[in-house]
Amino acid sequence: MQELVEITVDGKNMAVSADTTVLQALREHDIYLPALCYHPHLEAYGSCGLCLVEILNDDNWETKHACLLKVKDGLQIRTDTSELRLLRSWAAKIFLRHRPFLNHKTENFLLNLVQDEIKEKPEDENLTKCIKDLSGYMTEGCILCGLCVRMCSKIGKHHLTFLGKGKNLRISFVRGKSGETSCGNCRACCHVCPAGFITSNAEQAFSAKLY
Ligand code: SF4
Ligand code: FES
Repeated sequence: MQELVEITVDGKNMAVSADTTVLQALREHDIYLPALCYHPHLEAYGSCGLCLVEILNDDNWETKHACLLKVKDGLQIRTDTSELRLLRSWAAKIFLRHRPFLNHKTENFLLNLVQDEIKEKPEDENLTKCIKDLSGYMTEGCILCGLCVRMCSKIGKHHLTFLGKGKNLRISFVRGKSGETSCGNCRACCHVCPAGFITSNAEQAFSAKLY
């Protein structure tokens, strides 16, 4: 039988599977958290910084990634505080500034997180200007969530990898012995890419667009 533990989320007690993360537990209970680098069939990676929650530890509320944090009995969680909305908005602004988007669903999703910050500070003219600037900046982009790399490895192909460091960090093909980059175009990565960067196939995305 499945072992259950009791957690408290935004003041409500709930029973969740013991062997799960906070993000999965919240999803099981239809509690929404933004999460761009998470996929239910892949190991969590913790790169997008959007799934933040606060957990109570010795009278202090600490910020943690819900996708990486395992549940435990008695865990107390907050999902919607002004501090969390601010942190999510900062993460969203970094994506929007540095990784312009082709996929308008992702772009609007991130802009909404920034709007949440603006709602709390309607008098902040800099923020309002910032969202206008961001809206005009979108073309196409990879957010380096790593979902494509993890999916490619999970299905045993290992054709994709991270390459470079810092602002030069990119997803790239792993070259074969003779330098070839052909992947067979199985499209597994297309189905998990949240940014619309890999549309029809990975070869086209990585060789024709950025590299
Ligand atoms: S190509 Fe898509 S799935 Fe791969 S890292 Fe970039 S955004 Fe993520
Ligand atoms: S879903 Fe947790 S950091 Fe991206």
